[in-house]
Amino acid sequence: MAQRVRVAFSRRARHYDAAASLQKAVAWRLARHCRDLTLPSGPRADLGAGTGLLSSALEQQRPGSTLLRLDACAALLEQGEAPGARLLWDLNDGLPESLGGAALLVSSFALHWLENPAVSLRQWCDALGPGGWLALAVPTAGSFPQWRQAAAAAGVPCTALVLPEVRQLLAVVAPRLDLRLGAPLRFSQNGPSGRALLQRMRAVGAGTTATPPLGVGAWRRIEAHWAGGPGGKRLSWEVLMLLGRKPQGRAER
Ligand SMILES: C[S@@+](CC[C@H](N)C(=O)[O-])C[C@H]1O[C@@H](n2cnc3c(N)ncnc32)[C@H](O)[C@@H]1O
Repeated sequence: MAQRVRVAFSRRARHYDAAASLQKAVAWRLARHCRDLTLPSGPRADLGAGTGLLSSALEQQRPGSTLLRLDACAALLEQGEAPGARLLWDLNDGLPESLGGAALLVSSFALHWLENPAVSLRQWCDALGPGGWLALAVPTAGSFPQWRQAAAAAGVPCTALVLPEVRQLLAVVAPRLDLRLGAPLRFSQNGPSGRALLQRMRAVGAGTTATPPLGVGAWRRIEAHWAGGPGGKRLSWEVLMLLGRKPQGRAER
């Protein structure tokens, strides 16, 4: 799965920034939350940085600060015109030692691609130094209700990627960080058809799932059951926005 994810993002790397409107909006919003944070000294990194939408937004809103852009996909890392350093790294292997005692770890739309998001999230919390901050945006299990309902009504499996539960992620961070923000937000896109909405997701390389692909007939049935309104059809994301600080001097648990 990890290899397929990398290949899919590599194929679409040149088109990522132009197609990633949702990711841009979320990155800008998360960066705003980080704009005025008081940071201790220590490493700063964007985990699963891709082309660096989040680190760039943060560097624009917080002039003078640069972040290490870390990602498993070389083609995406090469797209960004980053002032900061880049590191080709598979987050399924944990974090590099150089990020121990981190002052700021940020990540947007990346955690859900990892093999065990809860385990990785715990590693990220544990890598923070005292007073260090974690800023995270991740799509969660309440995403794509329209797609799920259409698939259920059509009697066809929903082949969406399995996304982590908000509850499960909050259970990891709550004992480790003082949370300033930890709420799921809803983002929606409208389009002429369910197919067109899913095509937008594939356009950024984010179409990989663990389930076998459906045939044309099954997709037709899903489309027929995908509820529409005056604005066309809709696809919604539930995105957990999380901002937390490692307490000064708290022992790791
Ligand atoms: C949807 S993109 C988000 C990129 C960027 N954070 C943004 O907001 O635009 C998901 C990113 O996660 C990266 N990714 C997926 N699996 C990874 C892994 N195992 N290790 C490191 N990065 C990974 C992908 O290469 C891709 O850059």
